[in-house]
Amino acid sequence: MAVIPFYGSDEPDMFVIERRAMDREGLVIAALDENLPTTGTALDVGAGDGFTAERLTTRTRDVVALEPAARMIRRDRRITWVQGEAECLPFADASFDAAYATWAYFFSRNWDPSPGLAELHRVVRRDGPLLIVDNLGSDEFSTLSLNDLSANTEFWNQRGFACLAIDTHFEFENMIEATALLKLFFGETGVQRAALRLSFRVGLFIGRSAGS
Ligand SMILES: C[S@@+](CC[C@H](N)C(=O)[O-])C[C@H]1O[C@@H](n2cnc3c(N)ncnc32)[C@H](O)[C@@H]1O
Repeated sequence: MAVIPFYGSDEPDMFVIERRAMDREGLVIAALDENLPTTGTALDVGAGDGFTAERLTTRTRDVVALEPAARMIRRDRRITWVQGEAECLPFADASFDAAYATWAYFFSRNWDPSPGLAELHRVVRRDGPLLIVDNLGSDEFSTLSLNDLSANTEFWNQRGFACLAIDTHFEFENMIEATALLKLFFGETGVQRAALRLSFRVGLFIGRSAGS
């Protein structure tokens, strides 16, 4: 078991800027909403500060937000929090109708998502949707990095996940916020190429639980 260190615990204000700018159009949340059951309970794995879980909670759909880092958890959000890790979910078999993860745990090419994925199959009822959101690359945001920030689409395809491409943007309030966040992510390159709006290609990988 391992928790991927995440800057949001130490720099909550920067994470607020990130969440406000990233996919400002809300296209990713709209696509998740469309692919989740309208009733029952969904699990958000690596929920961060609960930004997405709060927006996907409806009158008929509950979302349980699972997050390992205590300092990411925002108790002021009206969602249910559970502290835990993707590889060892503290839930019984088939206890959810669906699960999703946005830029969490599975986001690294250098990380093996298999143990976490096995847990998703276990805790989501058979045929319930499993939805994984990650970068697709080849956009203005990702090209600021020297590293490959894109998801391993082959990994997901081989496991029966279809990929829905979503063309969205990072859109900042002002250049102060743009420069601060892009500097944190990309150093001097981020400062020099900071812009109010950057294209951002996202993949929604859509699979189904095989049951435990
Ligand atoms: C890039 S953030 C994304 C947060 C949130 N899903 C969002 O879209 O705003 C990654 C999150 O995954 C969490 N994380 C790291 N290791 C994890 C693990 N092993 N299991 C579950 N979550 C993990 C981090 O603490 C962090 O909150």
